[in-house]
Amino acid sequence: MNPLLNIAISAARRAGDIIIRHVGRIDRLTIKVKERNDFASQVDRLAEDEIISTIRKAHPDHAILAEESGAQGSDDEFQWIIDPLDGTTNFLHGFPVFCVSIALRHRGRLEHGVIYDPMRQELFTSSRGEGAQVDGRRMRVTSLKTLEGALIGTGFPFREKHNLDLYLQMFEAVVRKAAGVRRPGSAALDLAYVAAGRMDGFWEMGLKPWDMAAGVLMIQECGGLVGHFDGSPGFPDDGNILAGGEKIYQALAEEFKPMLG
Ligand code: IPD
Ligand code: CA
Ligand code: CA
Repeated sequence: MNPLLNIAISAARRAGDIIIRHVGRIDRLTIKVKERNDFASQVDRLAEDEIISTIRKAHPDHAILAEESGAQGSDDEFQWIIDPLDGTTNFLHGFPVFCVSIALRHRGRLEHGVIYDPMRQELFTSSRGEGAQVDGRRMRVTSLKTLEGALIGTGFPFREKHNLDLYLQMFEAVVRKAAGVRRPGSAALDLAYVAAGRMDGFWEMGLKPWDMAAGVLMIQECGGLVGHFDGSPGFPDDGNILAGGEKIYQALAEEFKPMLG
């Protein structure tokens, strides 16, 4: 296995162990409100410190972009993109859906991605050109062709509510057509599930690079599409992500396009 992917896996597992040690002890945590409805606990910090020190031991020269501690170093060469605990609101409520997400970008291109669900001990991994695996088994995105019968994931806008009108229009269109809509509460894990074909498509507004980086590579490596609400492809730097199997991605874009100004 690629040594860089190995580092990401071991960092993700170590962070997952820290998270699991604190499950059930949540009332003892100090919780920081970063912005309205945006929380972080010491667990986010501890997990992030563990990931960064695992990476630094092997590659002290690599740059880091991590949710809690921000950017260190330039992104010209290797840059690790880290969400130490994706789904903090779930975690703080004891709602068992959260994960660790780590990606590595080289010269701006995603090369490796790891998403680890410590509750189920499921490990999703991906390297450019090598596909993606869950616990070593090859993943594929959905081959479903229409929204009828599709299970679509999403995230509700929670920080900036000014997008709510557009979001609700999108939501209505999807609810009317799809078989089901889910909002599990961990965007990175949602994207891993799209890669695994457990959900047929996904959309959310206002995500950050660390929510998306590992999952984006996984979906692409599993034959899926990732891009913007109008269906144009590419990493959604604006945080508004559309993803899915090819036909579902296109069907969602067809629904959303007329709603975009
Ligand atoms: C959040 C989760 C959630 C998504 C939010 C993210 P966090 O990440 O991924 O599902 O709806 O947009 O910010 O704050 O728990 O790492
Ligand atoms: Ca996150
Ligand atoms: Ca987080």
